[in-house]
Amino acid sequence: MPTLSTPLPLRSHTLRNRIVMPPMANNLCDDEGRVSDRLVEHYRRHAAGGQGMVIVEHAYVTPRGRVDPHQLGIARDEHVAGLARIAAAIHEGNAVAIAQITHGGARCPSSATGAEPLGPSDIRVPGDAEDPRPMTPAEIQEIPGLFAAAARRALAAGFDGVEVHGAHGYLLNEFTSPFTNRRSDAYGGSVDGRLRLPLETLRAVRAALGPSALLLYRFGADDGVDGGLTPHEAARFAPRLVEAGVDLLDVSGGLCGSRPADRTGQGFFVEAASIVRRAVTIPVAGVGGITDPLIADRMIREGLVDLVCVGRAQLKDPAWARKALEALR
Ligand SMILES: Cc1cc2nc3c(=O)[nH]c(=O)nc-3n(C[C@H](O)[C@H](O)[C@H](O)COP(=O)(O)O)c2cc1C
Repeated sequence: MPTLSTPLPLRSHTLRNRIVMPPMANNLCDDEGRVSDRLVEHYRRHAAGGQGMVIVEHAYVTPRGRVDPHQLGIARDEHVAGLARIAAAIHEGNAVAIAQITHGGARCPSSATGAEPLGPSDIRVPGDAEDPRPMTPAEIQEIPGLFAAAARRALAAGFDGVEVHGAHGYLLNEFTSPFTNRRSDAYGGSVDGRLRLPLETLRAVRAALGPSALLLYRFGADDGVDGGLTPHEAARFAPRLVEAGVDLLDVSGGLCGSRPADRTGQGFFVEAASIVRRAVTIPVAGVGGITDPLIADRMIREGLVDLVCVGRAQLKDPAWARKALEALR
């Protein structure tokens, strides 16, 4: 029976334990998305903490997909040198290093992009301030190539793989969600239509990564809004994400953000993750408010999830993982 400390083989990599540092944005870059010394030191300090894997905060694949003026960029080849410093800092700590790649879609404020937000439809993510413009088919068809180019940059920077961001109301979540996707063309309507862009993106990224690099998907499997995606619908189509080349599903939720005010307790998206896990044969990570090592360990032992993402607790205490594993010994 696997526990929190059991290694996990994934393609040609092995995670030394089941603790993941999930992506958490610092927005410490310049206004061109270039890495700062402070950001490199942040990852060096945290990756010394003993986790199996560190997923770096969301990096935009195109300036049009940026949600903050100081967000990390992976949109141009000149970003590679700075990203390489982050990958090296994580490898110094012996964790697997993953770059999260993203397009913020309708959630990109014009103050960050200088242009109107783009989404599948003219539906705002609840709480957002601007109406998005529905993307043209030509604009949609550019997206897989942008993610694939970003994945190639991640590999050039020395990362072990990428995580495609499909959660928290950003572009790919907006396409899968029946709440935000009201299109009637090939990119909307049926489940097939809503999945088309995420699947085309994953296939393009898998091809760019080649056979040994890791492909993770941050899967927004529980929108938490009326008329949004539910974990049971998400589980029904999860096998198609796997067929597109995903190695690990990092299940999260919240169309309006990763930490919905009405979700509390340890593991507030772990039930959604366990519903998805029953539908697939690849490892699944769960997240949400986990601070207690004993509870994290039990989630693995009971087979609810294969890995746990511990976010804010690791931000607060960079040695959380080491202390957790010692406490369980
Ligand atoms: C400051 C902060 C920034 C975040 N940035 C990202 C991000 O860039 N990408 C992402 O997928 N999730 C992001 N998240 C969500 C976390 O990865 C995680 O899912 C969430 O915090 C719940 O886990 P926790 O309760 O263990 O912190 C962020 C969370 C926080 C607190």
